[in-house]
Order: sequence, then structure tokens, then C-alpha cells
Amino acid sequence: MRVAVLNGPNLNLLGTREPELYGTERLEDIERAVRARADEHGVDISWHQTNHEGEFVEHVQGLVGKADGALVNAAALTHTSLAVRDAFLAINVPFVEVHLSNIFAREPERRHSQLADLATGIVAGFGARGYILALDAMVSYLRDRAA
Ligand code: DQA
Repeated sequence: MRVAVLNGPNLNLLGTREPELYGTERLEDIERAVRARADEHGVDISWHQTNHEGEFVEHVQGLVGKADGALVNAAALTHTSLAVRDAFLAINVPFVEVHLSNIFAREPERRHSQLADLATGIVAGFGARGYILALDAMVSYLRDRAA
């Protein structure tokens, strides 16, 4: 089983970026924890972060034939990007939308997601642990689907 993790703009700054909202773990710490959990599941992880919308779209397009499922924190692109939405509409790869913060309890412009209705499910508000929860959820979803 192959699961891709896609991270959007500014998530490379986790650890120092608004720690009261996003916590003090760095993206590399989260990656390490996700890979360790994936090892326990026997799942392969590919990991990407980009600050560029077009590159994010290319990562989404690149999931076809390469990933059975994905964990997606599109960061600010979540709220703004029809291009990212269209990329997910164009492929048939299940994904869990992940946010460190609870976007539905934040400013009005963050309460809408361009991706939420396309996602298998959403994990938001549990900080870095949300990536692990999302991985567990995606693995069990893919196993159920294969059974
Ligand atoms: C975020 C929430 C977004 O609104 C914000 O733009 C981010 C991070 C989160 O993980 O909580 O960059 O996706």
C-alpha cells in the first residue's frame, strides 16, 4: 500500500510559524512520525511540500498510478485554489484532508474548503497528531475497500 502526503505553502515553516496555532513540531518531525507509523502498518510513504500552487497541482496529478491514497494539507490553497480542486476532480485517488488547526473555528475565509466535499474524510484541530490519525484512517479505509 502506498500513501502520499502532500503539504502546501508555508508548512515548511512549522515549528516557528505561529506556534500558538500550529504547534512547535517541525514538518520534518511530523514526517518522521508519519513514516514510523507507516512502517508499523507496512505502508510506503512519499512526502512532498511546496510553496507553489502549480507544483502542488502537479503533485496531485502525479498521484495517479503512484499512490493508493493521500493525506493532503493544502494549507492556504485549501481555501482559494480551484486549480487544486480541479486536479483532485481529475484523478480518482482517495484522500484525507488534514489541518493542524480546526479551520472551521477560525476566520470566516478559512471555514470554507475547496476540497472537503471531495475528500474521503477530514482531520482538523489535533495538531501534528492529525497526520497520524489521518494515516490510520486512510489505511483502514483502503483495507476495508480491498476486503
Ligand atoms: C492549515 C490551515 C490553513 O488555513 C492555513 O493557511 C495553513 C495551515 C492547518 O494545517 O491548520 O497554512 O492548513
